[in-house]
Amino acid sequence: MNQPATPRKPHIIVADTMPERYARGWHVLDKASEITTKPRMFDVFGTRLAVYRGDKDGQVHILDAYCPHMGADLSKGYVKDDSLVCPFHAWSWGGDGICNDIPYAKKIPEKAVIKSWPVLEKNGLLFVWNDAENNPPIPEQEPERMEDYYSGEWTDWTMTQVPIENNCRELVDNMADLGHFGPVHYSRVKSFKNIQDGHRYIQVMEGGHEILEDGTTGMTTTAIYEGPAYMTTTMTGSLYGRPVTVHLLVSHYPVHMNKFLINFGVMMKKDPNLPDVVNRDMVDKYTRMSIDSFIQDVEIWDNKVRVGNPVLCDGDGPIHMLRKWYSQFYLNLADIPEDLVKHKEHVSL
Ligand code: FES
Ligand SMILES: [Fe+2]
Repeated sequence: MNQPATPRKPHIIVADTMPERYARGWHVLDKASEITTKPRMFDVFGTRLAVYRGDKDGQVHILDAYCPHMGADLSKGYVKDDSLVCPFHAWSWGGDGICNDIPYAKKIPEKAVIKSWPVLEKNGLLFVWNDAENNPPIPEQEPERMEDYYSGEWTDWTMTQVPIENNCRELVDNMADLGHFGPVHYSRVKSFKNIQDGHRYIQVMEGGHEILEDGTTGMTTTAIYEGPAYMTTTMTGSLYGRPVTVHLLVSHYPVHMNKFLINFGVMMKKDPNLPDVVNRDMVDKYTRMSIDSFIQDVEIWDNKVRVGNPVLCDGDGPIHMLRKWYSQFYLNLADIPEDLVKHKEHVSL
């Protein structure tokens, strides 16, 4: 190789600053069926939430977990009717966040109100809405209804939770990261396109996959982010020489700025010609394979640093376009430049 005439300077990585808020939008906490009248706590958005299902209304309610009376964790309390009762002095909090009973007081203080978070149960999933501006959810940003989930022709989600010690942008970067598919996932990418459109970001990829198909069909995937944290992929591949179609869910929520939790879900179309037990076996097998494939990314995310000024080459995907799109969720609604949300397509291959 020819040596350059002048000495070349090493690139200094600039991490760029962490955002000062968490992304605006819907975040999956778990499968909706996992939420019962036994309250659960979720450490999310740098705070703690208490999540429970009302005994009478059957609705999921999400409240700030720390009781403003003297700080107990409401998720350690219990549900009475549709309210959550604090384990410390038994103040009762309605799903609207308003205190509706103090067993030993004549008058409930005006200030006895905690934050109640917007909730959505859809596609078998429980979503919470985050917004630093405290506006109500944006109707157009509600995740699309997955008809397949309701059709009875598909299995339910098999969910796996994966915690990662890093900022969640590292996960989202993956959408545009064409260069990692070969080395990390052993996939042979034949075509690769990214599309941004409002709060959606879409990756269309064609190729083969060493783990997730047996070489007979090849594999096509369409991965769609609806908002900052909810990604679904439809994949066609093969298993035991049979074509299979699955929906994958890669949804995350930030625990804090340097940790996030991935809700990784698999749903498979049942083959009506096969007995239930074989269908179940296929899903289990495919789920394990998908997780094996997915886990390949995890070790990288757990150990990588944040690079605000990456050195990119001509074979890389549109990392900058993706990051700009993603930054809209960290801005006040009124401040989002048109360029971040207008329809754009980028064909890498
Ligand atoms: S701390 Fe919750 S009622 Fe006292
Ligand atoms: Fe990946």
